[in-house]
Amino acid sequence: MYIGIDLGTSAVKILLMDKNGDIIKTISQDYPLLFPQENWIEQNPDDWFNATLKGLKEITLEYKNINALSFSGQMHGLVLLDKNDSIIRPAMLWCDQRTEEQCKTLNTIENIIELTGNIALTGFTAPKILWLKENEPDNFKKIHKIMLPKDYIAFKLTGKYSTDVSDASGTLLLDVKNRVWSKEMLNFIGINISQLPELYESFQVVGNILPSISSLLNLNSETKVIAGAGDQAAGAIGVGVIDDSTLSVALGTSGVVFASMNSYFADSKARLHSFCHANGKYHQMGVMLSAAGALKWWVENIQKSKDYNLLIEKEAKESEIDTNLFFLPYLIGERTPHNDPNAKGTITGLNIQHTRGDLTRSIIEGITFGLRDSLELIKSCKDSFTSIRVSGGGAKSDFWKQTLADIFNLKVDTINSTEGPAFGAAILAIVGDGLFKDVNEACSALIKIVETKEPIERNIDIYNKKYSKFKTLYPILKEI
Ligand code: XUL
Repeated sequence: MYIGIDLGTSAVKILLMDKNGDIIKTISQDYPLLFPQENWIEQNPDDWFNATLKGLKEITLEYKNINALSFSGQMHGLVLLDKNDSIIRPAMLWCDQRTEEQCKTLNTIENIIELTGNIALTGFTAPKILWLKENEPDNFKKIHKIMLPKDYIAFKLTGKYSTDVSDASGTLLLDVKNRVWSKEMLNFIGINISQLPELYESFQVVGNILPSISSLLNLNSETKVIAGAGDQAAGAIGVGVIDDSTLSVALGTSGVVFASMNSYFADSKARLHSFCHANGKYHQMGVMLSAAGALKWWVENIQKSKDYNLLIEKEAKESEIDTNLFFLPYLIGERTPHNDPNAKGTITGLNIQHTRGDLTRSIIEGITFGLRDSLELIKSCKDSFTSIRVSGGGAKSDFWKQTLADIFNLKVDTINSTEGPAFGAAILAIVGDGLFKDVNEACSALIKIVETKEPIERNIDIYNKKYSKFKTLYPILKEI
């Protein structure tokens, strides 16, 4: 049996899978987000670990024969250990926006794209380390090890300081092309390579479960721990996006358009993230900060409803496309394409006839147009994609999948698992255990398409025109 641990932003999901790829059980355990100041978003790493242990215990109470486990992790979060391996301060998360100044400093490094494949963005890890150095110098001095969220769980389970190249790509400390830490970046920030964890490929074995943990969980101490991946790379593996014909679109709290690349590529302006993939290759991706998160805001906070089915599959579906009604989805600023932590959301073009269904439709369209911005950037690097594999909470909506097919003018495939990153993590565990030659072979064997939505001809044209107008709105409204 194999376990995939998806350490998310609101909860950890633990998935048990057999060697045929059949999912036996999934468990979810929540933990809180901390908002100590405006723009600061933190979590307590021990909340992650306690929730993970609780979930693992529930599984191992029933199933003892676990061969290997692996991870998908929320990316970029800064986890800091002192010389006693104690947590120095709460982790600053991927969505924390406090580092605008530090990004400006880092982006003065002339060859930053050459060194890392990327530029500094507020979510990334290196600006957070610089922020710590400038604002909490005592904590900075205490740093013994820096790691990413899922790596803390691997450390607590194995006692090893490890990370994988896909997650490490989002630190801005990795030379992505060569899959090694960048000495120049470490020098600039003033940290030492010994303060960073050892780098692995996502499918490599990090170690075995510590005896203290295996007895606590009643687990075989031979259980292997496999490095795992950042949540987007793990999610792409979980939907079988391993070559350059298929795109992954994740409709989670954040939204991602992810393109697998067989060789390294970095755009001259780094408008997309250029990261290592979990199958030993590379990927490009665009990230919007608020995707299903914006829909949740609309349904739950504004409409005070939990009835997604009524609002989306009935009301929005029955409304007509209105080419003048727009939603800009920048509720917590935006990364791709605007790289603007101060970007704001708007609804534009209202009239008295508009219904709730029209507005819900415009919310879903606006998020999907935001994703199309990333698609257009990806297409300007490589235009070989014929289909999309979709995952995340939004993949439960037929209406959203059809809208995605229409706005992207690509067919949308749904596969046999809706578990995206947790399933991808379990696939990495199975590959790490040696059951398949490599990640691609495992994906081909374990992933099947179960449904396809083709774009509706009539809508493609309407949405192309509507998207052209959408693109003009952010620049006009930016100053306001
Ligand atoms: C990727 C990113 C998100 C987070 C949270 O760059 O920021 O995927 O990892 O899901």
